[in-house]
Amino acid sequence: MGLRLGDIAPDFYAITTVGAINFHEYLGDSWGILFSHPADYTPVCTTELGRTSHLMSEFEKRNVKVLAVSVDSLDKHNGWVNDINETQHTTVTFPIIADADRNVATLYDMIHPNASATLTVRSLFVIGPDKKVKLIITYPASTGRNFVEVLRVIDSLQLTSDYSVATPADWKEGEDVIVVPSMTTADAEKNFPKGLRVVKPYLRYTPQPNL
Ligand code: BEZ
Repeated sequence: MGLRLGDIAPDFYAITTVGAINFHEYLGDSWGILFSHPADYTPVCTTELGRTSHLMSEFEKRNVKVLAVSVDSLDKHNGWVNDINETQHTTVTFPIIADADRNVATLYDMIHPNASATLTVRSLFVIGPDKKVKLIITYPASTGRNFVEVLRVIDSLQLTSDYSVATPADWKEGEDVIVVPSMTTADAEKNFPKGLRVVKPYLRYTPQPNL
């Protein structure tokens, strides 16, 4: 059975483009994203890694360590990184795991045999500082991911881990949030001094509490 939300993200040792790492040690007290790519020297993956590289300051601002994985060799990765840097006008600094033996792909159930027997799908895991899996998304090889959406979800995950709130559909940083259903309205009035907007007893908004 694959990983589920709330599970401990499996630890592993891996060779990457920036040296050997132990995953949990690499994460330290940070948040992390681990994301797979079907193969090196493929067009969509090239744009995804370029886009991630351009967004590195956004990941760093949120204390998120980035780790990519592809089931190819280190030599192949190094050559491909040169291509990514050239074509996407960037310098990739985050590690890419050389997972030729598919250890990480197997641990994280990234190969979906009915999609492809050998290539990984586009899996992405967000892992919290407690090493638990907070988000799992899976895209097919033909669809590049939206990394602004990944940042948006991380904003929601970080906010909701600190406050008893949830974020509504399409929420973005700065917009009103929802008080969790388990909190009484009387408690919400005390806990959210910026104000409470009660639309229904179960639908209560408050301004984002950490701003
Ligand atoms: C790509 O990254 O471009 C890709 C990889 C495998 C299948 C289709 C597209």
